[in-house]
Amino acid sequence: MKQHSSGVRVTYKFAETILKILRKYKAINLSLELIRDSEHLIIPIILPNENVLSILENYQSKFEVSTFNFIQKENTPKNLFEALENEIPTELHDYIPKSYDMIGDIVVVEIHDEMLDYKDTIGKALLSLFPSINTVYRKASAVIGKIRVRKLELLAGEEKCETVHVEHTIKIFTDVCKAYFSPRLGHEHNRVADKVKNKETIVDLFTGVGPFPLHIAKNKDAIIYAVDINKAALSCLEKSIDLNKLKGSIALIYGDCRNVTESLLEADKVIMNLPSEAHEYLDVACQIIKPGGILYFYQFVPDDNPEEKMIQILEKKLKEQKYSIKEIISFQKIRESAPREIHACLEVSILPDST
Ligand SMILES: C[S@@+](CC[C@H](N)C(=O)[O-])C[C@H]1O[C@@H](n2cnc3c(N)ncnc32)[C@H](O)[C@@H]1O
Repeated sequence: MKQHSSGVRVTYKFAETILKILRKYKAINLSLELIRDSEHLIIPIILPNENVLSILENYQSKFEVSTFNFIQKENTPKNLFEALENEIPTELHDYIPKSYDMIGDIVVVEIHDEMLDYKDTIGKALLSLFPSINTVYRKASAVIGKIRVRKLELLAGEEKCETVHVEHTIKIFTDVCKAYFSPRLGHEHNRVADKVKNKETIVDLFTGVGPFPLHIAKNKDAIIYAVDINKAALSCLEKSIDLNKLKGSIALIYGDCRNVTESLLEADKVIMNLPSEAHEYLDVACQIIKPGGILYFYQFVPDDNPEEKMIQILEKKLKEQKYSIKEIISFQKIRESAPREIHACLEVSILPDST
């Protein structure tokens, strides 16, 4: 059977070198056959195109990433359902996980209570389905506590927590056991970073492992203050700074953002991605933002009229600080966070009432 899929086309001269690198990063889709023409080898890839471009960045002119018509190897499952349907009773098929997070070479999957007897089978299936994956964890709690980390239970593979995740060509070092990171926010990190101009000063009040600062500093000559109360998250960011070629500079600030405002320069923009509590920290944002500066304000909000609801929350809390919204610049729905609830971002400029 034929399958349309991404692949790397390389001349035979460089094929061995490229194959070696792709094998090292477990980037090859082993369920598809290689394609050979008179001049090229075409290698099916399993990682997103942007990750492969980043892995092969030293060989830029030697290969091309595109979509090709590969032949499927016989008897290899194409997805988790196919890998599990013969191992799990039919009445439980609806509970086979439909999504999971791939963070570098680690998969984190949520398993329904009804399926817990099959958790190891699911772990093994995920490991064999994705050659790029070395470890499979199950979510063993919700995201909890101030540092927003969840308990994880090893299901299959190597017991390790550190990995490098590639997001829009940016290498993000993370520790899935000690720091918050969600691969579902990649587009949002990039969207906000795209709006930053050279020479701006940005404060990311709840930076985690620093995806916003890394996205910004990759392409903009800006100064970004990355604040977090979790030392382990900042240690990850320190490692990522070494892994990437950055145009901007990132200053790491460890502590509760409420206690570190004197170490921050006046900000053109303040990012507040702590959606469960950002509204409780608007006093901090007002202390450090320039008049007319821009706020990226994140919340979990009910999915009916979410924009209106966020504006109401923000206006009320800003009023307590004697600030007002000057202009509503954008509203962005990011993802569903719970049934009938979304994670969203309101981008506004704000002014003190006295001006
Ligand atoms: C949702 S997570 C990180 C989000 C991150 N911006 C991202 O996009 O991946 C929120 C972070 O805020 C940090 N945090 C919570 N309360 C804080 C506080 N009062 N001051 C500084 N950091 C805090 C947590 O340690 C956690 O890393």
